[in-house]
Amino acid sequence: MKLSLAPIQGMTLAYYRNLYAEIFGGIDAYYSPFIATTSMRKDSLSLFKDILPEVNDSKLDIIPQLLGNNGDDFRYFASKIADMGYKEINWNIGCPFPMVTNKKKGSGILPYPDMIKELLDDVCQDDSYDLTVKMRLGLNNLEEGMKVVELLNDYPLKGVIIHGRTGQQKYTGHVDLDSFETLYEACKHEVTYNGDIYTLEDYKRIQTRFPEIENFMLGRGALRDPFLPSTIKGNVIATAQKIDKIKEFHDTVFSHYVNILSGDKHLCDKMKEFWTYLSIHVDPSGKFMKKIKKSRTSIAYLDIVNQMFDGTISWYESI
Ligand SMILES: Cc1cc2nc3c(=O)[nH]c(=O)nc-3n(C[C@H](O)[C@H](O)[C@H](O)COP(=O)(O)O)c2cc1C
Repeated sequence: MKLSLAPIQGMTLAYYRNLYAEIFGGIDAYYSPFIATTSMRKDSLSLFKDILPEVNDSKLDIIPQLLGNNGDDFRYFASKIADMGYKEINWNIGCPFPMVTNKKKGSGILPYPDMIKELLDDVCQDDSYDLTVKMRLGLNNLEEGMKVVELLNDYPLKGVIIHGRTGQQKYTGHVDLDSFETLYEACKHEVTYNGDIYTLEDYKRIQTRFPEIENFMLGRGALRDPFLPSTIKGNVIATAQKIDKIKEFHDTVFSHYVNILSGDKHLCDKMKEFWTYLSIHVDPSGKFMKKIKKSRTSIAYLDIVNQMFDGTISWYESI
Protein backbone atom coordinates (compact mmCIF):
# COMPACT_ATOMS: atom_id res chain seq x y z
CA MET A 1 0.00 0.00 0.00
CA LYS A 2 1.23 3.46 -0.90
CA LEU A 3 0.14 6.66 0.86
CA SER A 4 0.42 10.10 -0.67
CA LEU A 5 -0.15 13.53 0.85
CA ALA A 6 -2.80 15.54 -0.99
CA PRO A 7 -1.94 19.00 -2.25
CA ILE A 8 -3.51 21.69 -0.05
CA GLN A 9 -2.89 25.27 -1.21
CA GLY A 10 -1.23 27.43 1.43
CA MET A 11 -0.43 24.45 3.69
CA THR A 12 1.47 21.57 2.09
CA LEU A 13 4.27 23.76 0.78
CA ALA A 14 7.91 22.72 0.51
CA TYR A 15 9.00 23.53 4.06
CA TYR A 16 5.85 21.81 5.39
CA ARG A 17 6.39 18.67 3.29
CA ASN A 18 10.06 18.48 4.28
CA LEU A 19 9.21 18.82 7.96
CA TYR A 20 6.27 16.46 7.78
CA ALA A 21 8.51 13.78 6.32
CA GLU A 22 11.25 14.38 8.88
CA ILE A 23 9.04 14.47 11.97
CA PHE A 24 6.00 12.31 11.19
CA GLY A 25 6.80 10.19 8.12
CA GLY A 26 4.48 7.52 6.75
CA ILE A 27 3.95 9.28 3.40
CA ASP A 28 5.40 7.78 0.22
CA ALA A 29 4.70 10.65 -2.21
CA TYR A 30 3.88 14.33 -1.82
CA TYR A 31 1.74 16.17 -4.37
CA SER A 32 2.50 19.88 -4.44
CA PRO A 33 -0.36 22.44 -4.58
CA PHE A 34 -1.26 23.48 -8.12
CA ILE A 35 0.66 25.91 -10.25
CA ALA A 36 -1.73 27.64 -12.67
CA THR A 37 -0.47 27.61 -16.26
CA THR A 38 -0.56 30.93 -18.14
CA SER A 39 0.13 32.10 -21.66
CA MET A 40 3.05 34.19 -20.40
CA ARG A 41 6.37 32.75 -21.39
CA LYS A 42 8.60 34.55 -18.93
CA ASP A 43 10.83 32.14 -17.12
CA SER A 44 9.84 33.45 -13.75
CA LEU A 45 11.29 31.24 -11.07
CA SER A 46 8.73 32.61 -8.62
CA LEU A 47 6.01 30.54 -10.34
CA PHE A 48 7.97 27.42 -9.52
CA LYS A 49 9.31 28.50 -6.15
CA ASP A 50 7.56 25.71 -4.25
CA ILE A 51 9.03 22.94 -6.39
CA LEU A 52 12.56 24.24 -6.91
CA PRO A 53 14.94 21.39 -6.10
CA GLU A 54 16.85 23.59 -3.63
CA VAL A 55 13.84 24.04 -1.33
CA ASN A 56 12.72 20.41 -1.41
CA ASP A 57 14.26 17.51 0.43
CA SER A 58 15.82 15.52 -2.41
CA LYS A 59 14.90 12.23 -0.70
CA LEU A 60 11.18 12.94 -1.06
CA ASP A 61 9.05 11.86 -3.98
CA ILE A 62 7.43 15.16 -5.01
CA ILE A 63 4.84 15.32 -7.76
CA PRO A 64 4.22 18.83 -9.08
CA GLN A 65 0.66 19.68 -10.11
CA LEU A 66 -0.58 21.95 -12.90
CA LEU A 67 -3.97 23.60 -13.28
CA GLY A 68 -5.04 24.80 -16.73
CA ASN A 69 -6.97 23.99 -19.87
CA ASN A 70 -4.64 25.01 -22.66
CA GLY A 71 -2.35 22.37 -24.18
CA ASP A 72 0.39 24.79 -25.29
CA ASP A 73 0.60 26.40 -21.86
CA PHE A 74 0.51 23.03 -20.14
CA ARG A 75 3.31 21.67 -22.31
CA TYR A 76 5.43 24.73 -21.70
CA PHE A 77 5.03 24.56 -17.93
CA ALA A 78 5.42 20.79 -17.91
CA SER A 79 8.65 20.95 -19.89
CA LYS A 80 10.08 23.47 -17.40
CA ILE A 81 9.13 21.14 -14.58
CA ALA A 82 10.54 18.07 -16.33
CA ASP A 83 13.80 20.01 -16.86
CA MET A 84 14.03 20.35 -13.07
CA GLY A 85 14.20 16.55 -12.91
CA TYR A 86 10.60 15.65 -12.08
CA LYS A 87 9.38 12.41 -13.64
CA GLU A 88 5.65 12.77 -12.98
CA ILE A 89 3.31 15.72 -13.43
CA ASN A 90 -0.24 15.78 -12.17
CA TRP A 91 -3.10 17.56 -13.93
CA ASN A 92 -5.69 19.07 -11.61
CA ILE A 93 -9.21 18.62 -13.01
CA GLY A 94 -10.81 18.61 -9.59
CA CYS A 95 -10.48 22.10 -8.09
CA PRO A 96 -14.02 23.22 -7.13
CA PHE A 97 -13.59 26.96 -6.56
CA PRO A 98 -15.85 29.11 -8.78
CA MET A 99 -12.96 31.43 -9.71
CA VAL A 100 -11.35 28.38 -11.31
CA THR A 101 -14.40 26.41 -12.52
CA ASN A 102 -15.96 29.47 -14.22
CA LYS A 103 -12.93 29.47 -16.53
CA LYS A 104 -13.50 25.77 -17.37
CA LYS A 105 -10.48 24.78 -15.31
CA GLY A 106 -10.22 22.36 -12.39
CA SER A 107 -13.52 20.49 -12.03
CA GLY A 108 -15.02 23.16 -14.36
CA ILE A 109 -13.56 21.28 -17.32
CA LEU A 110 -15.24 17.97 -16.44
CA PRO A 111 -18.46 18.71 -18.42
CA TYR A 112 -16.30 19.37 -21.51
CA PRO A 113 -14.59 16.11 -22.53
CA ASP A 114 -13.67 17.63 -25.91
CA MET A 115 -11.49 20.20 -24.14
CA ILE A 116 -9.90 17.45 -22.07
CA LYS A 117 -9.25 15.45 -25.24
CA GLU A 118 -7.68 18.45 -26.96
CA LEU A 119 -5.28 19.03 -24.08
CA LEU A 120 -4.36 15.37 -23.74
CA ASP A 121 -3.79 14.97 -27.50
CA ASP A 122 -1.28 17.77 -27.20
CA VAL A 123 0.33 16.95 -23.87
CA CYS A 124 0.64 13.18 -24.33
CA GLN A 125 2.95 13.74 -27.32
CA ASP A 126 5.66 14.69 -24.85
CA ASP A 127 7.09 11.58 -23.26
CA SER A 128 9.69 13.32 -21.10
CA TYR A 129 7.40 12.92 -18.07
CA ASP A 130 4.54 10.72 -16.88
CA LEU A 131 1.14 12.31 -16.61
CA THR A 132 -1.36 11.58 -13.85
CA VAL A 133 -4.76 13.17 -13.37
CA LYS A 134 -6.58 14.22 -10.20
CA MET A 135 -10.32 14.47 -10.70
CA ARG A 136 -13.71 14.55 -8.98
CA LEU A 137 -16.91 12.63 -9.71
CA GLY A 138 -17.97 15.39 -12.09
CA LEU A 139 -18.65 19.10 -11.84
CA ASN A 140 -22.38 18.52 -11.32
CA ASN A 141 -22.96 14.79 -11.61
CA LEU A 142 -21.45 11.35 -12.11
CA GLU A 143 -22.37 11.18 -15.80
CA GLU A 144 -19.80 13.92 -16.47
CA GLY A 145 -17.10 12.02 -14.60
CA MET A 146 -17.99 8.79 -16.39
CA LYS A 147 -17.47 10.36 -19.82
CA VAL A 148 -14.13 11.74 -18.65
CA VAL A 149 -12.94 8.38 -17.29
CA GLU A 150 -13.87 6.68 -20.57
CA LEU A 151 -11.86 9.31 -22.40
CA LEU A 152 -8.87 9.02 -20.05
CA ASN A 153 -8.81 5.27 -20.76
CA ASP A 154 -7.57 6.10 -24.29
CA TYR A 155 -4.44 7.90 -23.09
CA PRO A 156 -1.15 6.60 -21.68
CA LEU A 157 -1.61 7.99 -18.18
CA LYS A 158 0.35 6.75 -15.19
CA GLY A 159 -2.69 6.91 -12.93
CA VAL A 160 -5.89 8.66 -11.94
CA ILE A 161 -6.65 10.03 -8.48
CA ILE A 162 -10.39 10.21 -7.77
CA HIS A 163 -11.86 12.39 -5.03
CA GLY A 164 -15.38 11.09 -4.48
CA ARG A 165 -17.21 14.42 -4.46
CA THR A 166 -18.59 16.54 -7.27
CA GLY A 167 -17.13 19.99 -7.84
CA GLN A 168 -20.49 21.48 -6.89
CA GLN A 169 -20.15 19.87 -3.45
CA LYS A 170 -16.82 21.64 -2.85
CA TYR A 171 -15.79 20.20 0.55
CA THR A 172 -19.26 19.79 2.02
CA GLY A 173 -21.16 16.61 2.73
CA HIS A 174 -19.46 13.26 2.41
CA VAL A 175 -17.62 11.36 -0.27
CA ASP A 176 -19.99 9.26 -2.35
CA LEU A 177 -18.41 5.80 -2.27
CA ASP A 178 -20.96 4.24 -4.65
CA SER A 179 -20.18 6.85 -7.31
CA PHE A 180 -16.46 6.49 -6.63
CA GLU A 181 -16.84 2.74 -7.19
CA THR A 182 -18.58 3.31 -10.54
CA LEU A 183 -15.69 5.43 -11.80
CA TYR A 184 -13.06 3.16 -10.28
CA GLU A 185 -14.52 0.14 -12.04
CA ALA A 186 -14.71 1.98 -15.37
CA CYS A 187 -11.13 3.28 -15.10
CA LYS A 188 -8.41 1.24 -16.82
CA HIS A 189 -5.62 3.19 -15.17
CA GLU A 190 -4.25 2.63 -11.70
CA VAL A 191 -6.64 4.44 -9.36
CA THR A 192 -5.72 6.31 -6.18
CA TYR A 193 -8.52 6.74 -3.65
CA ASN A 194 -8.95 10.22 -2.14
CA GLY A 195 -11.45 11.71 0.27
CA ASP A 196 -12.45 11.85 3.94
CA ILE A 197 -9.87 9.51 5.46
CA TYR A 198 -9.64 11.06 8.91
CA THR A 199 -8.95 8.02 11.08
CA LEU A 200 -7.45 4.55 10.94
CA GLU A 201 -11.03 3.21 10.98
CA ASP A 202 -11.92 5.30 7.90
CA TYR A 203 -8.91 3.88 6.11
CA LYS A 204 -9.75 0.30 7.09
CA ARG A 205 -13.40 0.69 6.05
CA ILE A 206 -12.45 2.03 2.62
CA GLN A 207 -9.62 -0.43 2.14
CA THR A 208 -11.96 -3.31 3.01
CA ARG A 209 -14.52 -2.10 0.50
CA PHE A 210 -11.89 -1.69 -2.25
CA PRO A 211 -9.30 -4.37 -1.42
CA GLU A 212 -7.56 -4.04 -4.79
CA ILE A 213 -6.78 -0.36 -4.44
CA GLU A 214 -3.16 0.08 -3.42
CA ASN A 215 -2.85 3.86 -3.43
CA PHE A 216 -4.52 6.18 -0.97
CA MET A 217 -4.19 9.95 -0.83
CA LEU A 218 -4.67 11.65 2.53
CA GLY A 219 -5.48 15.35 2.80
CA ARG A 220 -7.18 17.10 5.69
CA GLY A 221 -7.04 13.92 7.80
CA ALA A 222 -3.23 13.88 7.63
CA LEU A 223 -3.03 17.59 8.49
CA ARG A 224 -5.38 17.22 11.45
CA ASP A 225 -3.62 14.11 12.70
CA PRO A 226 -0.05 14.03 11.37
CA PHE A 227 0.44 10.63 12.99
CA LEU A 228 -2.29 9.12 10.81
CA PRO A 229 -0.07 8.02 7.89
CA SER A 230 2.37 6.17 10.13
CA THR A 231 -0.50 4.74 12.20
CA ILE A 232 -2.01 3.35 8.99
CA LYS A 233 1.39 1.85 8.27
CA GLY A 234 1.16 0.03 11.61
CA ASN A 235 3.33 2.20 13.87
CA VAL A 236 2.29 2.86 17.45
CA ILE A 237 3.39 6.22 18.88
CA ALA A 238 3.24 6.96 22.61
CA THR A 239 1.42 10.12 23.72
CA ALA A 240 4.55 11.72 25.23
CA GLN A 241 6.39 11.20 21.98
CA LYS A 242 3.48 12.70 20.05
CA ILE A 243 3.57 15.85 22.16
CA ASP A 244 7.33 16.20 21.62
CA LYS A 245 6.87 15.82 17.90
CA ILE A 246 4.09 18.39 17.73
CA LYS A 247 6.29 20.79 19.70
CA GLU A 248 9.20 20.23 17.31
CA PHE A 249 6.84 20.70 14.36
CA HIS A 250 5.40 23.89 15.81
CA ASP A 251 8.75 25.40 16.79
CA THR A 252 10.26 24.78 13.38
CA VAL A 253 7.26 26.17 11.51
CA PHE A 254 7.28 29.21 13.81
CA SER A 255 10.99 29.87 13.13
CA HIS A 256 10.38 29.45 9.42
CA TYR A 257 7.73 32.15 9.47
CA VAL A 258 9.76 34.45 11.72
CA ASN A 259 12.41 34.38 8.99
CA ILE A 260 10.15 35.01 6.02
CA LEU A 261 7.31 37.20 7.31
CA SER A 262 7.53 40.78 8.42
CA GLY A 263 5.36 42.04 11.25
CA ASP A 264 3.66 40.33 14.16
CA LYS A 265 0.22 40.44 12.58
CA HIS A 266 1.28 38.31 9.62
CA LEU A 267 3.11 35.93 11.91
CA CYS A 268 0.15 35.50 14.28
CA ASP A 269 -2.24 35.02 11.34
CA LYS A 270 -0.01 32.33 9.84
CA MET A 271 0.27 30.51 13.15
CA LYS A 272 -3.52 30.59 13.58
CA GLU A 273 -3.75 28.95 10.16
CA PHE A 274 -1.14 26.38 11.24
CA TRP A 275 -3.23 25.38 14.26
CA THR A 276 -6.54 25.31 12.37
CA TYR A 277 -6.11 21.71 11.25
CA LEU A 278 -4.04 20.40 14.18
CA SER A 279 -6.27 21.87 16.87
CA ILE A 280 -9.22 19.70 15.80
CA HIS A 281 -7.56 16.77 17.55
CA VAL A 282 -5.24 18.32 20.07
CA ASP A 283 -7.66 20.96 21.37
CA PRO A 284 -11.14 19.44 21.03
CA SER A 285 -12.70 21.89 23.50
CA GLY A 286 -11.35 24.82 21.47
CA LYS A 287 -10.05 26.53 24.64
CA PHE A 288 -6.52 26.90 23.36
CA MET A 289 -7.56 27.98 19.88
CA LYS A 290 -9.75 30.71 21.38
CA LYS A 291 -6.73 32.20 23.16
CA ILE A 292 -4.57 31.87 20.06
CA LYS A 293 -7.14 33.72 17.98
CA LYS A 294 -7.01 36.63 20.42
CA SER A 295 -3.21 36.97 20.32
CA ARG A 296 -1.99 40.03 18.43
CA THR A 297 1.74 39.92 19.13
CA SER A 298 4.31 37.18 18.81
CA ILE A 299 5.11 37.54 22.54
CA ALA A 300 1.46 36.97 23.49
CA TYR A 301 1.24 34.11 21.01
CA LEU A 302 4.35 32.36 22.32
CA ASP A 303 3.19 32.83 25.89
CA ILE A 304 0.01 30.88 25.13
CA VAL A 305 1.87 28.17 23.23
CA ASN A 306 4.38 27.81 26.07
CA GLN A 307 1.56 27.51 28.61
CA MET A 308 0.13 24.82 26.43
CA PHE A 309 3.30 22.82 26.12
CA ASP A 310 4.15 23.13 29.82
CA GLY A 311 0.70 21.85 30.69
CA THR A 312 -0.81 25.04 32.17
CA ILE A 313 -3.53 24.98 29.54
CA SER A 314 -5.01 21.54 29.10
CA TRP A 315 -5.01 21.03 25.37
CA TYR A 316 -4.04 17.54 24.45
CA GLU A 317 -6.61 14.79 24.49
CA SER A 318 -5.57 12.05 22.16
CA ILE A 319 -5.16 11.63 18.50
C1 LIG B 1 -7.73 24.49 1.46
C2 LIG B 1 -7.61 23.40 0.43
C3 LIG B 1 -6.73 23.56 -0.63
C4 LIG B 1 -6.61 22.56 -1.61
N1 LIG B 1 -5.70 22.72 -2.63
C5 LIG B 1 -5.62 21.75 -3.60
C6 LIG B 1 -4.68 21.86 -4.69
O1 LIG B 1 -3.89 22.80 -4.80
N2 LIG B 1 -4.69 20.86 -5.61
C7 LIG B 1 -5.53 19.78 -5.53
O2 LIG B 1 -5.50 18.89 -6.38
N3 LIG B 1 -6.38 19.64 -4.49
C8 LIG B 1 -6.44 20.59 -3.53
N4 LIG B 1 -7.28 20.40 -2.48
C9 LIG B 1 -8.05 19.14 -2.40
C10 LIG B 1 -7.27 18.06 -1.62
O3 LIG B 1 -6.07 17.75 -2.28
C11 LIG B 1 -8.10 16.77 -1.48
O4 LIG B 1 -8.40 16.28 -2.76
C12 LIG B 1 -9.40 17.00 -0.74
O5 LIG B 1 -9.20 17.76 0.44
C13 LIG B 1 -10.07 15.66 -0.38
O6 LIG B 1 -9.22 14.86 0.39
P1 LIG B 1 -9.31 14.83 2.01
O7 LIG B 1 -10.76 14.55 2.37
O8 LIG B 1 -8.39 13.71 2.40
O9 LIG B 1 -8.89 16.17 2.50
C14 LIG B 1 -7.40 21.38 -1.50
C15 LIG B 1 -8.24 21.21 -0.41
C16 LIG B 1 -8.36 22.19 0.55
C17 LIG B 1 -9.29 21.96 1.72
